[in-house]
Amino acid sequence: MSKNLKRNYIYDFDLSYNQKALFEEVKNTKTSPYFEDNPNKDSWFCAPSTWFMGEIKNLDTPEMKSIINQLNKLTNAKDIRPVFVFQEKGTSVPSHLDVIKGDYEVNKCSVNIQLKEKVGPVSFGWVDADDLTVKSLYVDEDGNSRYEHDGPIHTYYCALLNTQKMHGVPAFHDEDRVFVKFNLYDVSYEDALNNYLKNKNNES
Ligand SMILES: [Fe+2]
Repeated sequence: MSKNLKRNYIYDFDLSYNQKALFEEVKNTKTSPYFEDNPNKDSWFCAPSTWFMGEIKNLDTPEMKSIINQLNKLTNAKDIRPVFVFQEKGTSVPSHLDVIKGDYEVNKCSVNIQLKEKVGPVSFGWVDADDLTVKSLYVDEDGNSRYEHDGPIHTYYCALLNTQKMHGVPAFHDEDRVFVKFNLYDVSYEDALNNYLKNKNNES
């Protein structure tokens, strides 16, 4: 896939932070299974036993403060709300959009920072989804789990993600997936990326 096309989905961010120190700051965040109140009880996205999330309430710790400050300056986002995410090793998250029907406020995009040394890739749908249907997993001839509409697969440690495009996480067997997801509520993916590129350019 060309770099430009991939750029519509994900972009590696060059931020200054200490991974271990950040982990220490957030590791005791209270988490619960994703979307326990989901009215659609049959959905995979109703309280899965392998995918946990928790709002990070203390933003006044050194790494947190510094990262939010950098994101403010680089993306121009003012409304940034970080959550701690835990995904059990060897499990997948089906393709989805960060969109919930109903009255919930939804993030426009996110900057994710991985907290483990070994990290598996994320996958993006090739086709923009107009609906909210979860695409099913299938296993290819080599035994790899794949999604319908396979798009770019990308492994990142710190990146801006277009959560308004279909995305999912194939199973990774080496390590739990643990990261901080800085949800941006007031800047779109396109604007966050353009601001980042412009502001980074002015830094150097
Ligand atoms: Fe997501």
